[in-house]
Amino acid sequence: MTPTLSSIVEQLRQAGHSHLLDFVDQLNETELQSLLQQIAYLDFELVNQLFTKFRDANNPLTSNISATSSLDIRPPDALRLDQDNTPSGVTRSQAVIEGERLLRAGKVAALIVAGGQGSRLGFDKPKGMFPIGPISQRTLYEMLVYKIDALQRHYETTIPLLIMTSPSVHDETISYFEEHDYFGLSDSIEFFCQDTLPVVDSQSGQILLQSPHTISVSPTGHGGMIAALVADKLLDKCQQAGIEHFFFGQIDNPLSPICCAELIGFHSLTDSAVTLQAITKQNAQDKTGNIVQIDDRIQMIEYTEMPPQLAAQTTADGQLNFWAANIAVHIFQTSFLQQLAQNPTALPFHPAHKTVAHIDHLGNQIDPAEPNAIKFERFIFDSLSVSPKTTVIEADRNLVFAAVKNPVSASFNTVDTCRHAISALHRNWLIAAGVQVDANITVEIDPCWARNAQQVSERSDLPPTITADIFLTSSSSTAR
Ligand code: UTP
Repeated sequence: MTPTLSSIVEQLRQAGHSHLLDFVDQLNETELQSLLQQIAYLDFELVNQLFTKFRDANNPLTSNISATSSLDIRPPDALRLDQDNTPSGVTRSQAVIEGERLLRAGKVAALIVAGGQGSRLGFDKPKGMFPIGPISQRTLYEMLVYKIDALQRHYETTIPLLIMTSPSVHDETISYFEEHDYFGLSDSIEFFCQDTLPVVDSQSGQILLQSPHTISVSPTGHGGMIAALVADKLLDKCQQAGIEHFFFGQIDNPLSPICCAELIGFHSLTDSAVTLQAITKQNAQDKTGNIVQIDDRIQMIEYTEMPPQLAAQTTADGQLNFWAANIAVHIFQTSFLQQLAQNPTALPFHPAHKTVAHIDHLGNQIDPAEPNAIKFERFIFDSLSVSPKTTVIEADRNLVFAAVKNPVSASFNTVDTCRHAISALHRNWLIAAGVQVDANITVEIDPCWARNAQQVSERSDLPPTITADIFLTSSSSTAR
């Protein structure tokens, strides 16, 4: 039931957010009811508490590693690319066999977070609907579901695909999948929607209004996934269905090695609660999180929080000492996610200083040029601080990472760099299989045609030469 206006006036006064009702006289009945419902949903105590902590700490809310200089920080113990087995003796071939066994037995689900606002990209639809295929123009969602489809066929199994949305993208995402008949995977795909928190002014802590009847909110970060899974009872459902491990990835990396058998196998055979895939940092200024070891525990330090002298440290052979970049490719034990689910404060909120348009007390539209607001977010990697065992496995950047974060005008993680990385990888698969591929042409391979270099080399229908842009797909191989 929607609370009455009079019942919330006092509540707002006590919480210090009476300004949310500044424009009630101008609202029609529908708008007023909508505003009251939004207010009823707010946890003012939490918002005020988070802002107070932010203000008092003058930034990091909770960061357990913000005082990095006083801690014993080392690069992580990890299985590097040039090594064949973990310290406990698990080899790559054993890992692949185990991962494939788990996939065939239906013990693995994929969990993809897609609830972000994608503000940097500046696309007016959910980011997953962005057309990224270098030739096919397939969307990020299509790239994902066709990979799952290919894996399901290959392993003759079902891989539940859990996709996290947030309120601002949920309905459009569902409509998109419905329009496309879930790309044939309606039995495997499940959506769940994460929570939001209000956005506050970074000076006053007052909740911002997006319009006279709309409170400015933002999703609670990828770490909001735990609460969202719990709310929809999805962990229990997956556990009952026999899911033992979750592949975790982000919607904006179409090269993400979804349900990679080797990674799952290492995770399982080392009995890890969490396994992180890492790639090598390109340079000391690389804008990716740092996977490090602090007092024998694997942890993440945001690139913004890494002391520059540590980031720049080199080894005797001139390599970056802190080499391990996080690309948000993880495997989680289901039991570990259950453990997180039972401890709602395990993942703290962090403040993010952002530029957010809003209306002021007079109702004027404000479009700030500089960050003016605080969003509160949880990070899934904070779970590392309670992980009983974390394993780090290095991967080749070119095989697993091509994120789409920024508009074309930026210098990294753009639409163009992503398309180029996909084409370069697929082109290399063909060249490794003995195909002559002309320089400067674009190549794209449908995962149902081949998911990796080995599958390309096993195809009996490889063309000897490729002289024009090509999309190799199961139904036909079409050159344009
Ligand atoms: P990013 O931090 O890159 O954010 O999210 P974003 O929303 O995609 O883009 P910007 O920062 O607004 O430009 C990394 C991944 O985490 C998901 C995103 O959808 C993306 O897959 N995410 C982020 C969530 O699922 N929920 C959130 O609240 C935030």
